[in-house]
Amino acid sequence: MDGVKTGQGEGDTERMADDVSRPLRHVRQALPHDSALRHVQGNAQYIDDIREPEGTLHIAIGMAPKARGRITALDLAPVRDAPGIVTVLTAADIPGPNDVSPAMGDDPMFAESRVDFHGQALFAVVATTRDAARRAARKAHVEIDAERPSVTVEDAEARDETVLADYGFGRGDAAAAIAQSPHRLEGSLRIGGQEHFYLEGQAALAVPGEEGDIHVTSSTQHPTEVQHVIARVLALPDAYVTCEVRRMGGGFGGKESQATQWAAIAALGAKVTGRPCKIRLDRDDDFALTGKRHDMRCDYALGYDDDGVIQGYKVAHLVRCGYSADLSQGVVDRTMFHSDNAYYLPAVRIDTRRLKTNTVSNTAFRGFGGPQGMLSIERAMDEIAWATGRDPLDVRLANLYAAGRDITPYGQKVEDPQIMHAMIAELAESADYRARRAGIAAFNASSRILKKGIALTPVKFGISFTLMHLNQAGALVHVYQDGSVHLNHGGTEMGQGLYMKVAQVVAEEFGIAMERVRITATTTAKVPNTAPTAASSGSDLNGMAAKVACEAIKARMTAFAAEKYGVLAEQIDFRDDRVFIGNESLSFPELARACVLNRVQLSHAGFYRTPEIWWDREKAQGKPFFYFAYGAACAEAVIDTLTGENRITRVDILHDVGKSLNPAVDIGQIEGGFVQGMGWLTTEELVFDGEGRLRTHAPSTYKIPVASDVPEHFKVTLYPNANRTQTIYRSKAVGEPPLMLANAAFCAITDAVRAVAPEGARVPLDAPATPEAVLRACAALQGEALDGESLEAGKTGAGAQP
Ligand code: MTE
Ligand code: MOS
Repeated sequence: MDGVKTGQGEGDTERMADDVSRPLRHVRQALPHDSALRHVQGNAQYIDDIREPEGTLHIAIGMAPKARGRITALDLAPVRDAPGIVTVLTAADIPGPNDVSPAMGDDPMFAESRVDFHGQALFAVVATTRDAARRAARKAHVEIDAERPSVTVEDAEARDETVLADYGFGRGDAAAAIAQSPHRLEGSLRIGGQEHFYLEGQAALAVPGEEGDIHVTSSTQHPTEVQHVIARVLALPDAYVTCEVRRMGGGFGGKESQATQWAAIAALGAKVTGRPCKIRLDRDDDFALTGKRHDMRCDYALGYDDDGVIQGYKVAHLVRCGYSADLSQGVVDRTMFHSDNAYYLPAVRIDTRRLKTNTVSNTAFRGFGGPQGMLSIERAMDEIAWATGRDPLDVRLANLYAAGRDITPYGQKVEDPQIMHAMIAELAESADYRARRAGIAAFNASSRILKKGIALTPVKFGISFTLMHLNQAGALVHVYQDGSVHLNHGGTEMGQGLYMKVAQVVAEEFGIAMERVRITATTTAKVPNTAPTAASSGSDLNGMAAKVACEAIKARMTAFAAEKYGVLAEQIDFRDDRVFIGNESLSFPELARACVLNRVQLSHAGFYRTPEIWWDREKAQGKPFFYFAYGAACAEAVIDTLTGENRITRVDILHDVGKSLNPAVDIGQIEGGFVQGMGWLTTEELVFDGEGRLRTHAPSTYKIPVASDVPEHFKVTLYPNANRTQTIYRSKAVGEPPLMLANAAFCAITDAVRAVAPEGARVPLDAPATPEAVLRACAALQGEALDGESLEAGKTGAGAQP
């Protein structure tokens, strides 16, 4: 908890227009997560903890044994004959369209005539126990007329197969600017994907009601989409379907669109059998069946002047989207929106190909494509440093957005670039970057096997959904006659602390004790037509919607009290769990009761939509982001040049969350985001074999960070700074931006690898920087021929070397 003191508190004097004039009691307090106690006591309920209704059936998925080809035979008789089987669901059982996609219509619930990836769902077994369902699912007789699958982006390029049209934008003539630059270079960086590894796997429980009603409890970030897709596949009106979510055991983007299929299968099972149906994917199946972070190859070219300042920049992102579009439009667009990261690009061209491969359909993952775009330009910064012999930090500073150099490639102005300059200066100072850089150089000069590296990288992350209509939220607030408050909104809780933040807003608005606010499960029956909880916008959107609802109720209570006591509305103040009316005061429950007796409405549905933003995708112009969140991280790494083993030993972070709604939660998000990003860039490697089979499908082969991977020195400080934009209590979104602070870890390892090479050498290190990758890069730089055998395994995945 470093940083709560330094970062927050002292800034409260520079209060903005919409801030309340009284001191804040709940907002900006470091309160624990609403379920913290229940999490550690083990009584926070996840889907599989819910008491099963009598007669609940269990579902397992039958999966495709090949990655690409025509289904020539699907004999389910052996499955049906297995013990405990109630029914087997196939595409033929679906009353509506066989489509669980978020938008494009290209994700079947069950494959019908063709399979498009290894493991794709062919059918679902509904049985009396989970064990019986899983055993039976393996008994199907499946024949596929197999074709050679497209596994890598090169495979897909060769076939020219995409899930969405190519898209690019830019400014000026980047090629000409590069050609005219005094210095030029070209390169390519491969960036791996990432499995979400939420602790609670995909799960849903569907319970049939009267007249075809379905109630589904789903571990989803997007209850509205689950509701709408279930209605679609069951050919029901939306109003017949309710989706409820109390919490997820992690989502990280993996449950934005991809919780839907499993909830819909459970609902179909409930519809067909008339009994409650539950599905909980086994971890290995979850790996094989659900999409991941998009991996890509980024080919770049740039021109720069004698000071290392970029004159022209071109990048093409060749993205492995998997077999269908899913959210790839938004994800890859966000890669483009972040291909500049924090740097001004006078002439720029950003192109993308959304390549279709016979692998799972890649999806949202914390940062939503942004991290990949940012990592590729961080490599470009390092390249300039290597070529010019300058300190990489100086190259970054020289290219940073600044007044007059502040228009992004998509036309949005960066209004507050000075924040980045101030943060980097402060962090370089507090982390002692310059002196440590010198110390590391001295260490490397005398250490033959171990090499150290350091990097300081910035983050600039755009906040808003780039799909404009998603920037809306609703909240439903009831005040009961005893003064207790029922809070409901469209946002979902996945561990990020959203429920607590919104509850703090409500307690603040009514001036009541936190204990009066009852946080309730998200449900489509209370707040309709919601956006997913994603794009880090949960508290921005739902906090505002809840505030609007509270203000409306408070205004009615105030008007009533003013009339009853003959005072002006301005003389009424809600604070300290009481209502002060002129010289008198009432408890909040007393006023609530009086309102009810006098027929004053104490319930309101609040609604909020983000103002100012717009985006014209065809013209590639607009203001897609309401504001930017900033951060900077300084990381130090040590590598063993004989084994490639590496560690991040020290990390200092300065991060801008505006005026934090809850510094404890925010610091948790920054720590967690950084470590998750570090996992992506160091140990987490997805390996698909030539047949399109994912070979890393369990913790045995896929390594996420554990507690011992957290850097020994890990200091997170909040940057005290009110959001200049009118957000909820001048806070900033925090969910995703900190993940990209981990780019510093990757650049630090890269820097350590460079120490084995002569001055001016380029480091051929791709992400993730696994020991194999580090060793390969060291060997390449030292000009040693490595015995290929032991390293070959790492080459079949995203990081395959050309
Ligand atoms: N934190 C936890 N503990 N668990 C999660 O699943 N998801 C992340 C981030 N932080 C996640 C998390 C992602 S991908 C997003 S978009 C945001 O939380 C969503 O929540 P917010 O909008 O309320 O920040
Ligand atoms: Mo987060 S990737 O926007 O769910």
